[in-house]
Amino acid sequence: MNQPSIRNRMFPIRSELKSKRIKFDGPQNHISWAFMKELRENNKTRKIYDCDPYVEVYQFRDNLYGLFSENCDGMGDVWMYLIVGPEKALLIDTAYGLGDTKALVDEITGGKELYVTNTHDHFDHAYGNCRFGKVYVHENLVPAIANQNAHMWDYLFDGFGDNIWLDFDPKDLPEFKPYEIVGVPDGYIFDLGEGYEVELINCNGHGGDGAAMFLDKHNRILFPGDNICSDVSGCGSVSWPVEESSMGKYRACLRKLVAERMDEFDWIFPQHFMNDLEANLLPNILDTVEEICRNPYNYDYKQETYGKMRGQKRTRYFKHIKGFSVIGYGIEPKK
Ligand SMILES: [Fe+2]
Repeated sequence: MNQPSIRNRMFPIRSELKSKRIKFDGPQNHISWAFMKELRENNKTRKIYDCDPYVEVYQFRDNLYGLFSENCDGMGDVWMYLIVGPEKALLIDTAYGLGDTKALVDEITGGKELYVTNTHDHFDHAYGNCRFGKVYVHENLVPAIANQNAHMWDYLFDGFGDNIWLDFDPKDLPEFKPYEIVGVPDGYIFDLGEGYEVELINCNGHGGDGAAMFLDKHNRILFPGDNICSDVSGCGSVSWPVEESSMGKYRACLRKLVAERMDEFDWIFPQHFMNDLEANLLPNILDTVEEICRNPYNYDYKQETYGKMRGQKRTRYFKHIKGFSVIGYGIEPKK
């Protein structure tokens, strides 16, 4: 029987975070929810630091920390990742900036010099950048990041100033201040000292032509941004000629990774939900991307969605990835 009253909520995961979920925009993926419930309720490394009550910190490797925070809007909750190298540290994504992320990172690293970077420019990945003085992103991402401003968090509140999706103290958002944005090319190496390298790989797909993955060569981990997600992997859209669309460019990146670089990583850590995924997932994802590019209308199912702020209707198509979740994508029809 249809029970509309519970359709847009999930039974809550036990949480000691200062933030409290009001509602999601839609139901979350059940497999991911089970993973997150197990992790968040039972993982022995989970720690909430006094300096930032909005983030659960998990230690996934000797020098790799996952910083979990609830999404400030109705979409999926978010990971930031902190890699602590011999001399310097690297923070991948900054979420919404809710809570004192900088103090937290400094406490974990013991005040090591820090690089900050983004997988892409979306709200839930880059709005915390202004807590830091300098951010390194792929050179094509610079204009989008430079667009940030003091009003970018306004949509999180209704006309009365009340929180819409997540309950938190607005005073715990950052005060926006301009910061230095450094554009770097594909293949840029973050040197964390003593030969510890993390490579930026320009990947396109989700987040467009400035989107990046990161390869931690020491831990043999690929951080794919939102191009891989156990809920919905959003990988851009298909238009013609396919090679020039965001999905087509993502396919080119995946083809290269699968053909030439699979011996460089064993694990995949996405920015939402399940992480520590086994690397042989990547060829399965490529298979699905190839099929979508060959005939995007051969989808498994589709949904009508409405944009959060402008409310325009769009159709989203979904195709299954063998042994994993789905790829969600748009189609811009041939004119
Ligand atoms: Fe995201």
